Amino acid sequence: MKANILVQSSANTYSVSIGHSVLETEIKAFFDDSSVRECFILIDENVGKHHGKRLKKIFDNAKIDFTSFVIPEGEKSKSIEQWSRTLDFLLQNGVRRNTPLISIGGGITGDLAGFVAASVLRGIPLIQVPTTVLAMVDSSVGGKTGINHQTGKNLIGAFYQPQKVIADIEFLESLPRKEWINGLSEILKYGAISDSTIIERSSIFFEEDIHSIEKDSLIRLIEDCVSVKADIVKKDEFEGGVRAYLNFGHTFAHALEKATNFDEISHGEAVFLGMLAAINLSKSLGYTIDDAPLKKFRPLYNFNINAEALDTDTLIQYMKSDKKMIDSDIRFILLDGWQHPVVKTVNEQELISKAWLYLIHEL
Ligand code: GLY
Repeated sequence: MKANILVQSSANTYSVSIGHSVLETEIKAFFDDSSVRECFILIDENVGKHHGKRLKKIFDNAKIDFTSFVIPEGEKSKSIEQWSRTLDFLLQNGVRRNTPLISIGGGITGDLAGFVAASVLRGIPLIQVPTTVLAMVDSSVGGKTGINHQTGKNLIGAFYQPQKVIADIEFLESLPRKEWINGLSEILKYGAISDSTIIERSSIFFEEDIHSIEKDSLIRLIEDCVSVKADIVKKDEFEGGVRAYLNFGHTFAHALEKATNFDEISHGEAVFLGMLAAINLSKSLGYTIDDAPLKKFRPLYNFNINAEALDTDTLIQYMKSDKKMIDSDIRFILLDGWQHPVVKTVNEQELISKAWLYLIHEL
């Protein structure tokens, strides 16, 4: 089965194609509609190792000249230095305003590639080929691009929409289990803010061999997450309102990632804990919400953090440097019941500390 979702933005309307082994036909179709027969590819180093041969064949068969540049794995690639190195590569290799840039990788490669595409020559066409669950359901869609600064995550970037997103689940066959679970958190986020069936259907992640998850169920799940996101982006592309709901769990998560130097916990793992902490804070503020539907997924996660090194005052300080902060109070996405997100500025430090202590206890 194959799914196709349209995302409407102020710049364009583009399709997100989801399926197994769809890259061949989707790449061919994109270039058949274009006058250009060349492109740049930014590829995650691990994806290149596992899928390089297949990718070369796809572009050779479609008669597309490509020049590729490998992006080292890890959050450190979302840096000013890596952005600058990538711009050097494109400019030294003759990039033009109409040369498409194809990002093939997870959220790190996609966020970096998106910001490179937005900034080189004031913008070149961008195609996102997400290769992780997380990138398929979230980061490749909606136009958020960016890199990190030493003071915090995603503090440098731009809204820049791709021309097309191709989510080919064949890439997931080489993805380690831990990365599947990383993506599960963002799937659960859509369930929490918008669609309870998404949480119920996420039980497929309990499959003993995660690579044997039934393909059509997975494609439908990704499709439904992307539909929720497309709907939100259509209403609020630049995050003046409802798009903030997509940050459910992320205020806690970003601070936790920063406190562990972006290398002890993955983004998805941090988002899972962040959602539990946000529910704890929701309850402290009087909202009625039971965390059981989310807690059910806790056994799928293995955290490897030195909890004793975490200090709630420092974590709260990190939250205050998050870009979603308005004045000195911290803005959270909370739940006033399942599928009822609310944006709330919280100034009761003791309740935020309590939520952090709860989160640290979960580690
Ligand atoms: N990942 C959150 C957003 O795209 O708004």
